[in-house]
Formats: sequence, C-alpha cells, structure tokens
Amino acid sequence: MALLEAQDIHKYFGSGSQKHIVLGGVSLQVEEGQFVSLLGPSGCGKTTLLTIIAGFQKANGGSILLDGHLVTNAGPERGFVFQNYALFPWMNIRDNILYPMKQQKMSSAERERRLSELLELAGLTGKDKLYPHQLSGGMKQRTAVVRALACRPKILLMDEPLGAVDFQMRQRLQEELEDIFMRDRATVLMVTHDVEEAVYMSDRVVVMSALQGKIKADINIHLSRPRDRRSSEYRWQVNRIMDIITGRQESEAEEVSLESSRSGQRMITIAR
Ligand SMILES: Nc1ncnc2c1ncn2[C@@H]1O[C@H](COP(=O)(O)OP(=O)(O)OP(=O)(O)O)[C@@H](O)[C@H]1O
Ligand SMILES: [Mg+2]
Repeated sequence: MALLEAQDIHKYFGSGSQKHIVLGGVSLQVEEGQFVSLLGPSGCGKTTLLTIIAGFQKANGGSILLDGHLVTNAGPERGFVFQNYALFPWMNIRDNILYPMKQQKMSSAERERRLSELLELAGLTGKDKLYPHQLSGGMKQRTAVVRALACRPKILLMDEPLGAVDFQMRQRLQEELEDIFMRDRATVLMVTHDVEEAVYMSDRVVVMSALQGKIKADINIHLSRPRDRRSSEYRWQVNRIMDIITGRQESEAEEVSLESSRSGQRMITIAR
C-alpha cells in the first residue's frame, strides 16, 4: 500500500455557466521514502491538488488516504512548504523552527534535541538568533524546509519551494535539499516548474496536463545519486520530459516506451 493515495480527486470552482473544472478525477500515489515531483503548465491545478492533499481545502469528490487512513483536515503528519517560505517575521530562526513542535506539545528536552539536529541539517547552527529579514533567500528556504520537517511528518508537501531563487542559488539549494531529504529519509511531493530540478531531485516525475489536471505521464528516474547534470542519461531524461510537456512526445508514446526499454531502464509510461 502506498503511503499517500489521492483517489479520483475532483475539484471545481464556481457553478452553472461559470463552473470551472480544475481537477477532473486525478489519482496519484506516493510510496514511502519516494521523492515525487509534480510538473505541469501554469494553472493546471498543481497547487489545488497539493493543498487538497494537505487538507487546506476540500475536494468536491474523491479521497485522500495517508497510510490507509482517510484524511479530511490539515494535520502534522503532512508538512507543507509554501513558495514564499511563510516564516513568521517576528520570530527568529529558533522560534520559527520550535513553533510547530510546541503546537504538537513535544517535551522541551525533545524540542531542543530536534532543534539542534535540524539546525545542523540546514547548515544554520549558530545562526538561530537571526530574524527572517536578516536571512538570505537560501537560508529562509532551508529554515522553512526544516521547520516543516520538525515534527517528522510522514510526507512533506512543497509548492515550488525554490521558485524565488536565482539559477545558481537554485542548483546549490537543490543539492542541499537532496542531502537534507536523504539524511532525514523524508517522503516528498514537490510542485515545480523546473524540469531540471524535477529530474535532479526526484525518484518519480508526474506530469499534469492543462486539461482538468489529468496525469499525462508518470516517469521513474532511475539515475544514481548524487546526479550528474552533464551525463547523457540525465540530459536524455530532461529532454524527454520537456518533449512530453510541450506535447511533442504524445504521438510518439510507443516509441518512448520502446526506446526506454531498449536502454534497459523502462523509465516512461504514458497515460494516453
Ligand atoms: N479559490 C479559487 N477560486 C476560483 N478559482 C480558483 C481558486 N483557486 C484556484 N483556482 C483556479 O484553479 C486553476 C488552478 O489553479 P492552481 O493554483 O492549482 O494552478 P497551478 O497549477 O498551481 O498554477 P501555477 O503553476 O501558476 O502555480 C486556475 O485556473 C485558478 O484560477
Ligand atoms: Mg501553483
């Protein structure tokens, strides 16, 4: 059984002639320990799906199961990282990270232990007295991620966590985040616009289509970690996913399956 199962999720906004179907029956599973990226054109429903999984808003149909249990509201077993980090500006790093642990009534000894572990994980040891306005974008981002990991969620949901940083910083943060997730053995579902980022970080890349958020492709990335951005296998994956997103690949679905099995990797299945 998958750790997370989104089953036949329907979501629409408005009614009558104004009814806008955003998700027309989307199903997605994430296995424990997997890092899954969700890619798709702007407005296709990625944030909507992620926030339904988080329990921040309700679907009009379908269900979300975590460890086989139906979830309907937000809960600490699903950590969330917002695109703009959403740190509390009036709290320093230390209090930002401690906040969810206090909410969960963790003992103070355990809180302190976890805090120093997380500061170390994020490379922020000794910086915990700084306030968000005194942090670089990368530091804010790392604080937001470890804060979301503080109560050891079963799954971490991230909505374009690196959307606001520049290209070079982004590559460095991808490497740092990968390290954090590998060491904390987190299960992650991340929305991103960046195909390179998805291939660099993920075990699986799920591509949504503009039409009712249907899942267009579900691709296993079998590259060993840390990934070599210049290797031909890596470039091949990035180009294939680009082609799927731009639609160039759809008519060649059979060919993709053939080619990937020929290379011994069986990497791509395309929902037609
Ligand atoms: N509360 C709402 N009321 C009405 N329409 C909404 C609401 N929330 C989202 N939508 C619509 O649902 C669609 C999907 O939005 P969503 O934010 O999920 O897209 P997205 O895939 O995350 O896009 P982006 O990549 O630009 O962040 C959009 O057309 C959006 O306008
Ligand atoms: Mg979005």
